[in-house]
Amino acid sequence: MTALTIQSVSDDSQLGARVGGVTLEALKEPEAREQISDLFEERGLLIFEEVEPEPELQVAISTIIGPLKDHPSKATPRVGGDGMLGVIEIKVEPSEEGSVRIGDRELSAWLPWHFDHCYNDQLNRAAVLRAVESPAEGAMTGFVDGIALYDAVSSDARERIEGKMVLYAMDVIMENLRYGRPEGFVEINASGSAADVMAEYADRPRALHPAVWTRSTGEKVLHVSPWMAKGIEGLDDDAADVLLTEICDEIVEVSKGLSYFHKWKPTDMVIWDNWRVLHSVSGMAPNNARCMHRTTIAGDYGLGRFEETASAHT
Ligand SMILES: [Fe+2]
Repeated sequence: MTALTIQSVSDDSQLGARVGGVTLEALKEPEAREQISDLFEERGLLIFEEVEPEPELQVAISTIIGPLKDHPSKATPRVGGDGMLGVIEIKVEPSEEGSVRIGDRELSAWLPWHFDHCYNDQLNRAAVLRAVESPAEGAMTGFVDGIALYDAVSSDARERIEGKMVLYAMDVIMENLRYGRPEGFVEINASGSAADVMAEYADRPRALHPAVWTRSTGEKVLHVSPWMAKGIEGLDDDAADVLLTEICDEIVEVSKGLSYFHKWKPTDMVIWDNWRVLHSVSGMAPNNARCMHRTTIAGDYGLGRFEETASAHT
């Protein structure tokens, strides 16, 4: 049996492990697959180091956790014309549209804290990311553990958000970012695909997900995405706005001490638990290029749903 090497990402955090020795050959062994699956459940974030940077290995790692799922947006480009189901390409060309300003820094490829598919009723289990091209500086992917967030936010905010369902809608126009918005934040221009994505989702119902949920292993997870949050079920707009502002500001603040930011090497692949972990992208100087390949792993925690609209009753 091929031995995998495992190291914690940090001594004082339950989130994340670095895994060495992963090859297509090693993953044929049921013991290795089980070890990775168990570690994923326990740590929520696995960084596979010194791997062959091939889509076949990315798919093989992904399918340890679950079957691949096609990305819900048809406007997102797929990798390869013939069969790499579920591998999408997220590419930013130098000086392409889609940049923001935070204070005096202009950044492209910047993304706020979020979990994926919050605008959908089902929440994908996980995703595997690899950097085909990444700049020497910036464009790091940040991760923060919802279990640690639940414990770290103030008890007042936690008590008021627990039990609430948060409303989300697809919104890739960064100027619309309302919660967890950095100080001095301005969208310079929307990405080239933003209008197509917004048009595709214009008539879809909003989705609801619990702000706090409990894992089968007993831990509570604070799982609020500042990006695309639009309201709270049962609260009027003003009350929801106050509570979302408070909880998202706290998430941004406490994540400064809890998060891990991954600086990409071409031989890394990273998987994270989308039901537990929030992620973000630190952004890069706009004259850089970035190309990421990502798989999406199916599954559902069964706690999300679409909002019932008035027309659904007629
Ligand atoms: Fe994401």
